[in-house]
Amino acid sequence: MKITFLGHATLEIQINEYSIVVDPFISGNPSASQINLDDLKPDFILITHAHQDHTLDVEKLAKDNDSVIVSNFEIVNYFQNRGFKGHPMNHGGKWNFDFGELKYVNAIHTSTFPDGSNGGQPGGFIITANSKSVYIAGDTALTYDMKLIPLHYKLDLAILPIGDNFTMGYKDAIIASDFIKCDKILGYHFDTFGLIEIDQTKAIEDFKKAKKELIIIKPTEHLTI
Ligand code: NI
Ligand code: MN
Repeated sequence: MKITFLGHATLEIQINEYSIVVDPFISGNPSASQINLDDLKPDFILITHAHQDHTLDVEKLAKDNDSVIVSNFEIVNYFQNRGFKGHPMNHGGKWNFDFGELKYVNAIHTSTFPDGSNGGQPGGFIITANSKSVYIAGDTALTYDMKLIPLHYKLDLAILPIGDNFTMGYKDAIIASDFIKCDKILGYHFDTFGLIEIDQTKAIEDFKKAKKELIIIKPTEHLTI
């Protein structure tokens, strides 16, 4: 699995011949200005929740690439009503897609579309493919529900928000890392705008003190698991 950070909470995940884009927010993100949307060719677009900083570029990408949109029932309905392809899920459910298994799990957050439409309840995803499992938390608070994840999955990587204010901050992410039994964390949803600026050096140090690894990479950089 090749995981490329595309700024804020946007990821591209390549599994075998498939491209999966998660929460596309590129055209509205100055720190992702070097990324050209036309270079992305997603077969699938995963959406954790309906907020603009997770859905801004969904329609352009889905239109250009005939992508299948995967999210909760309300979000997928919203896009299906606009003529897009979708696969609806809901919390606790999993499905075997061509790229691997996907589970939609709980997040504590909100999920209204920018136009006020109902975006259902927010979530996160666990992707399992080629014997590797990755948890993408989406925007969420620290929650005891995270303790359910290691009952079924041995995570190789977890992607957690660390920016605070709208989601958990990095100190809660250290506790989340305990809950999910995964010590390798890719941080996201920080530093994009003023309300979620963090001290990256301090965050990495605090993870180290807890004998965990916080990975911070720049937009367009990737890691492979
Ligand atoms: Ni949000
Ligand atoms: Mn967000």
